[in-house]
Amino acid sequence: MSLKDKLIREKLPRHVAIIMDGNGRWAMRKGAARIFGHQNGVTPVDEVVKASAELGIDYLTLYAFSTENWGRPVEEIDALMGLLVSTIKKETKKLLDNNIRLLTIGDLTKLPENTRMELVQLIEATAANTGLTVVLALSYSSRYEIILAAREIIKDTLEGKLSPDEMNCDTFERYLQTAGIPDPELLIRTSGEFRISNFLLYQLAYTELYFTSKLWPDFNTEDYYEALLDYQNRERRFGKTSEQL
Ligand code: FPP
Repeated sequence: MSLKDKLIREKLPRHVAIIMDGNGRWAMRKGAARIFGHQNGVTPVDEVVKASAELGIDYLTLYAFSTENWGRPVEEIDALMGLLVSTIKKETKKLLDNNIRLLTIGDLTKLPENTRMELVQLIEATAANTGLTVVLALSYSSRYEIILAAREIIKDTLEGKLSPDEMNCDTFERYLQTAGIPDPELLIRTSGEFRISNFLLYQLAYTELYFTSKLWPDFNTEDYYEALLDYQNRERRFGKTSEQL
């Protein structure tokens, strides 16, 4: 029985988030420049998007660039942004043909103008699609997202649009960049690091975490199925006991 056949459709997560880590190390091990690793990180992106759409997963969030990544050498940043634009151009038809919608979280204003324009165009072109939603986290910082939410909440409160008594999880979540997107049930991180790295700190409260030592360019569809199978075998208790479930 293949790994895919072992998956139980009703027990799949609705939302999978992935920290795609290890591109740089993958390239260094091959004696190549770091960008070679990023270039080879596009195929696994393709594979997880395709597999998610086929399986009927609703949301796939990919951590492509953190605010901390702006501190990398300028050549690497330029190459990454270039890669993003060329990938978007290459993938546009595939996203449209497969009813996939693209969204982003993060501060797009920090991106180079052409990268931002390409992204905005693709977001608009796919806005009416009803299949898988791919959320690209770009120039994203979860702490900053929470701080921005706090700022807006204070403003709305001072302007009398919001009363402190109204504040609860539902209200707070409306101020996050992920408003309207359900929390991920599964987070995958590649490359053997056991960290969250400022990613979806609020949204991951009850998420199942899956770590693999594979470097991102080596991650493939079978690895993805394996992570989903592992998830299906977990008991999610949300603070309750096994007997209460
Ligand atoms: C982390 O590896 C990866 C990134 C910072 C970039 C991820 C980008 C891609 C997979 C390219 C294409 C993406 C899309 C969405 C088209 P790292 O460089 O931190 O690796 P290291 O920890 O080994 O240095």
